[in-house]
Amino acid sequence: MHPESARLTFREMRPDDLDDMALLLGDPEVMTYYPRPKSRDEAAYWIDWNRGLYRAHGYGLWLVSTADGGFVGDCGLTPQVVDGVTELEVGYHVLPALQGRGYATEAAAASRDFARTVLGATRLIAIIHPDNRPSQRVAEKIGLRPEKRATVHGGREAIIYAAAIDQP
Ligand SMILES: CC(C)(COP(=O)(O)OP(=O)(O)OC[C@H]1O[C@@H](n2cnc3c(N)ncnc32)[C@H](O)[C@@H]1OP(=O)(O)O)[C@@H](O)C(=O)NCCC(=O)NCCS
Repeated sequence: MHPESARLTFREMRPDDLDDMALLLGDPEVMTYYPRPKSRDEAAYWIDWNRGLYRAHGYGLWLVSTADGGFVGDCGLTPQVVDGVTELEVGYHVLPALQGRGYATEAAAASRDFARTVLGATRLIAIIHPDNRPSQRVAEKIGLRPEKRATVHGGREAIIYAAAIDQP
């Protein structure tokens, strides 16, 4: 199963998505708030990681396309440990040429609704770099609010956006 939304289609990533995912995750602009752009091997690992999540949990980051099949990016749900607690995080990456069209907000809202209605999740977070305003806007627009600061992923400072999602 996967989220659904008006303009976008979602599906599980496959190994043959490597060209698209390497383009996305290797883009310096998309990776501004990550340690560095990902290599092709790291993009392949990203696909493997998500395929493992689908098998283990029934969710992960899904590959997102427009209705005509054009690759947009990825968006979805991953388990993340924050302050020793495993949380459900919504994440999103959109190709630079397709940013500013509301795609990340639409995909993140659909992922939030999937978390609530399909997974029965009651809380959703987003782990966001303090300077990453576009990502913070997406989180705000799907109802998440800044909750606390935390150190994640072996030493990076982040703002934890969060909300209860048990009520539509
Ligand atoms: C974050 C990201 C996914 C947003 O994608 P998008 O499809 O352009 O997002 P949307 O069009 O749905 O909305 C973006 C919001 O951010 C705002 N925004 C975009 N660029 C901005 C900027 N430089 N400064 C401030 N706000 C900005 C938009 O105006 C919009 O908010 P608004 O409706 O209030 O105007 C995209 O910028 C991206 O891929 N960034 C790199 C990857 C990343 O950082 N992912 C998140 C990791 S936590």
